[in-house]
Amino acid sequence: MVTVNIRTKSPKAKISRLPSTLEVDSKSTVESLVEALSGVTKLGTERLRLTLIDNTRLIPGTPLEKYDLQDNSIVYVKDLGPQVSWATVFYIEYAGPIFIHLLLYNCQALFYGRTYEHSLMQKTLLIMVLIHYLKRELETLFVHRFSNASMPFLYIFRNSSHYWFLSGVLLGYFSYKPDTRTPLPPAIYYSLVGLWIYAETSNFVTHLILSSLRPKGTTQRKIPFGYGFNLVSCPNYFFESLSWLAVVGITRTWSAALFWLVSTVTMYQWALKKHSKYKREFPGKYPKSRKAIFPYIA
Ligand SMILES: NC(=O)c1ccc[n+]([C@@H]2O[C@H](COP(=O)([O-])OP(=O)(O)OC[C@H]3O[C@@H](n4cnc5c(N)ncnc54)[C@H](OP(=O)(O)O)[C@@H]3O)[C@@H](O)[C@H]2O)c1
Repeated sequence: MVTVNIRTKSPKAKISRLPSTLEVDSKSTVESLVEALSGVTKLGTERLRLTLIDNTRLIPGTPLEKYDLQDNSIVYVKDLGPQVSWATVFYIEYAGPIFIHLLLYNCQALFYGRTYEHSLMQKTLLIMVLIHYLKRELETLFVHRFSNASMPFLYIFRNSSHYWFLSGVLLGYFSYKPDTRTPLPPAIYYSLVGLWIYAETSNFVTHLILSSLRPKGTTQRKIPFGYGFNLVSCPNYFFESLSWLAVVGITRTWSAALFWLVSTVTMYQWALKKHSKYKREFPGKYPKSRKAIFPYIA
């Protein structure tokens, strides 16, 4: 048994009833420490984040021995606030564009002041958006194995605005308005639809590979290999970007281009972080020729 000091990092982040010391069995896991603190503070275990003086995070599921806790070691506790499950956030995020596109498509008189026959491009876009976001909902339900159970409740608004506004309102509003442009030549149009089907299917395959790396109920991480992963660390992001690029070509709207750009820049930044995390986690083992997101480029 060791007796550790319990602190919050700043006086502003005070947690009522937080004990100043706690006796823990150094042979137990991080959960037992979190549960003991949760019992005393009456805050749910998912709200409590523990770190050491050097900012190392105490990850639930890890034996405390790994962190070499001694008598008088300091463990910092942070109350993350009310939490919501990752899956719930994803369901809400992806439901937005489905609902908004259906509304804009079906209520022409309300949004555009008259009724008219939708163009082939508009019919195709609606189908693509519905398939894309239903696929994401179903993947959240049946495929992904997330390591983080929850995130702060307020993140729902931050995360959803990206999808609801850029991919829902802007993309939908400017794509479903009366379209008087000359349609694309069929060869180009169907090539772009083919590119979209290829990218969406490939994105799905990469998600299956990621899910197969982690036994159910664990947070284990492995080096992924195979379809796309031999070239880049995040082929799922690459294929997602390719799929929205096809949508840009099909719709030829600035709002589709804006969503593609913002998504791709975001995924590029995330991919760089994931790529360096892999190199840190698997030193000497991580394939050197692999790029982060764009094959042979970056
Ligand atoms: N359009 C956009 O702006 C946009 C932006 C981001 C994502 N997306 C789409 O949403 C999809 C999911 O995004 P994401 O950021 O959650 O993808 P991700 O971080 O690559 O992860 C997908 C799933 O695989 C798990 N995973 C990742 N690497 C793993 C490894 N080495 N070993 C074991 N499990 C691993 C993740 O677990 P963890 O919970 O541990 O990470 C997560 O459950 C993307 O592929 C993309 O299609 C779109």
